[in-house]
Amino acid sequence: MAAIKTIGILTSGGDAPGMNAAIRSVTRSAIFSGFNVKGIYRGYKGLIDNDIVEFKTQNVSNIIQQGGTILKTARCKEFTTVEGRQRAYEVIKQQGIDALVVIGGDGSLTGARQFASEFDFPIIGLPGTIDNDLFGTDHTIGYDTALNTIMWCVDRIRDTATSHERLFFIEVMGRNAGFLALNGAIASGAEAAIIPEISTEVDQLAELIQNGFRKSKNSSIVLVAESPITGGAMGLAERVRKEYPEYDVRVTILGHLQRGGSPTAQDRILASRMGAAAVDALLEGQRNVMIGDDDEQIVYVPFSKAIKNEKPIDRGLLETLRRLSI
Ligand code: F6P
Repeated sequence: MAAIKTIGILTSGGDAPGMNAAIRSVTRSAIFSGFNVKGIYRGYKGLIDNDIVEFKTQNVSNIIQQGGTILKTARCKEFTTVEGRQRAYEVIKQQGIDALVVIGGDGSLTGARQFASEFDFPIIGLPGTIDNDLFGTDHTIGYDTALNTIMWCVDRIRDTATSHERLFFIEVMGRNAGFLALNGAIASGAEAAIIPEISTEVDQLAELIQNGFRKSKNSSIVLVAESPITGGAMGLAERVRKEYPEYDVRVTILGHLQRGGSPTAQDRILASRMGAAAVDALLEGQRNVMIGDDDEQIVYVPFSKAIKNEKPIDRGLLETLRRLSI
C-alpha cells in the first residue's frame, strides 16, 4: 500500500451531536502525526462535486461544543451508483487524498464499504448516529446527547400528563431500532417502551393494557420507537381511541429536536477518543474498519460486521422497565 500523506474527512447521513468533536479530533490527531487533512463538505455529495478544503488546526477551533456538523451532511443518491462512485474516486485522486475517515451511520458505512472494496481504498469509519444501531460498538457518537434530550422533553411532558391525567404516546427516533425508546423510557421513568425488536413477538400495546398499566396511576407515558413495525405513536393512539375509549390520549412526536444541541460530555469524550483512534488505525495499516467502543476499550470492527449484524437490544432492560412501572 502506498504511504498515506493526506486524509480526507467527511460526515454523512443524519447529523449527530458530537460529529464536530470527532472532526476536530481526527483533524488534530492527523496533523499531530504529520498528515495533511482535507475537509470534504456535504458528505459523499461533496466528494463527487469536489467540495473540498484543506484543513488546518484552526479550521476546527471552537467547534467541540457545537451540535450538527461544520462539514454539513447529505444523503447522496448519486454515490449509490457506479458512475457516482467512479466520479468520487477521480476527485479523490485529483485532490491527492490517500485515505478517508467517514463519520456516519449504517447507510454511510455501507457506502464506505462499497467504495473501499471497488477501488481498494483505505477508509476508517466512525459510528456517528443518534440511533445507536451499529453492531460492534456499545455507543455511537450522538446517542447520549439524544437520550438526554429525550429525557429532558419527557420530564416536561410528564407535568402536563399528570395534571390532566392523560395517556401520552411520545414518539422518538431510532430508524427501526429501540435503543432511544427503551433507554429513554428507563431514564425518564416512563411506564413502557414500544420497540420494533419485539414487535413481531408480542402485541406490546395489548400487553400493556392487559397488565393494567394505569390501574395504580393517574397518568401514563409510553415511549414509542418510530418504525412501521411499531405503528408509531399516531398509530397506537388511534388504536387506543378505538379499542379503549375511556383513555384520554395525546401524542407528541419529538422529531428532529432530538438531533440538535450541544453534545454531552460523554459524546465529546467518545468522539475525541474515536477520532484519535481513527488516525492510529491508519498508522497501524488498518483499513475498512469502524472504530468501536467495547466496554471502554477501542476496537476495530470490520465494516461487514458493523453493517450486516443486528445489534441486540438489552432484554434485561425491558424486564427492568416492566418492574419499575407497577
Ligand atoms: O439515522 C438518524 C435519524 O435521525 C433516524 O433516527 C431517523 O429515522 C432519520 O435519521 C431521519 O432522517 P431525515 O433527517 O433524513 O428525515
